[in-house]
Amino acid sequence: MSAVVIVGAQWGDEGKGKVIDFLAQQADMVVRHQGGNNAGHTVVVHDQEFKLHLVPSGILYPNTRCVIANGVVIDPGVLLDELAYLQERGVDVSRLTISSKAHVVMPYHTQLDALNENHRGDRKLGTTLRGIGPAYMDKAARVGIRVADLLYPAELRDRLSRALEEKNRVLTRAYGAKPFSLEELYDRFLAYGQALKPYVADTSIIINEAINRGDRVLFEGAQGTMLDIDHGTYPYVTSSHPSAGGAAIGAGIGPTKIDRVYGVAKAYTTRVGDGPFPTELHDNIGDLIRERGHEYGTTTGRPRRVGWLDAVVLRHSVRINGLSGLALTRLDVLDGLPELKIATAYRDQEMTLPEFPDTAFVLRSVSPVYEVMPGWDTPIGQTRSLRDLPVNAQRYIERIEELVGVPIVLISVGRERASTIVRDELF
Ligand code: GDP
Ligand code: IMO
Ligand code: MG
Repeated sequence: MSAVVIVGAQWGDEGKGKVIDFLAQQADMVVRHQGGNNAGHTVVVHDQEFKLHLVPSGILYPNTRCVIANGVVIDPGVLLDELAYLQERGVDVSRLTISSKAHVVMPYHTQLDALNENHRGDRKLGTTLRGIGPAYMDKAARVGIRVADLLYPAELRDRLSRALEEKNRVLTRAYGAKPFSLEELYDRFLAYGQALKPYVADTSIIINEAINRGDRVLFEGAQGTMLDIDHGTYPYVTSSHPSAGGAAIGAGIGPTKIDRVYGVAKAYTTRVGDGPFPTELHDNIGDLIRERGHEYGTTTGRPRRVGWLDAVVLRHSVRINGLSGLALTRLDVLDGLPELKIATAYRDQEMTLPEFPDTAFVLRSVSPVYEVMPGWDTPIGQTRSLRDLPVNAQRYIERIEELVGVPIVLISVGRERASTIVRDELF
């Protein structure tokens, strides 16, 4: 198996960082292909916690090459800080390559993200305020600035002055905000370009060469399928394609190169930010799971909304991504709960909806149909094989497989690399 795509199967924060780090032991290359520093991936290695926003989670292994590909939007200041943070902690970052075609998140994107959110009032999306939406808007509008532009002074000045003409008009006239200075931004981003230059290349060539050689390449999704701009709970989504198809465009590989796609799902559900969440809990079980699972955002520190596992969401994810299987994380967080619920369908008045609805407004009136299963008492954090799990935990896993229609190939029972049960080779 050469190319394996790992995606979030829910609303993000499923534990993709942990799963990627675990699988990266066997990988030659790890690629990020969409999103930006709205992502927050946590990896725990021997009691050391690493929080990564742009650099792929494979960076913690000494021989794994890492790529930030064309589909990612890069805030250069954030990336340089992250590289410095890793170097301070003894991580060699010279194995990183950055796409010349990746778009740059500019300070006006970050500012517009905040102004847009403010303007939306109670219809806000709850974005991470990292400028992601406005940066992808400029990419689609063909007025974006790409990493390659930072390396060519005349090109940068030209593109920046055109962009600022429009941005400053919007900032001053629509929002009454201060304009950006061309000279200040030009100097700052030219310096960023020089700092990033040693890492920059046409990464599609590098990734394809690796796959063609038979190297094992992992594609690290950010966000989750339910945040996909087409297939998520629009408009409460991010501005990229976190689903599997995004890996092909975002890395410059043909879909025929992808061998397998795995989805990462928590053993329950969380969501950070606004938008529909049918199985959300508003009671003390939700609070208990949040506290026990430390469910606070890696990027923004916001408390995550918590709910029961939703098989309707997971079936949607299986279809949209063509999932070969699931990695189920955080099963240990459910230790000691007397009973667990799984949503098997939604009900809208008298109608049962077996599939995830295609509009967010339909979701406002649906209620989940639950199946109740008994929980387990014994802590499972030290368990390293499926048959050593309590019988009720094994039943929970089997029932999810039946409801979702794909095998659970990996089970995570703790934050550490070692707290992992592997049922099937993923590569
Ligand atoms: P990502 O965005 O999908 O990479 O996920 P985050 O890193 O934002 O959030 C997942 C959190 O769960 C991190 O703090 C991980 O250390 C933690 N985590 C991952 N797997 C497990 C697990 O099996 N059990 C527990 N208790 N924590 C886990
Ligand atoms: P990882 O990779 C969870 C959410 C935001 C908001 C919506 C749009 O760590 O799983 P954006 O800033 O992207 O325009 O915000 O998407 N969101 C995430 N939620 N995990 C993430 O990344 C997320 N990245 C964005 O909370 O609801
Ligand atoms: Mg996260």
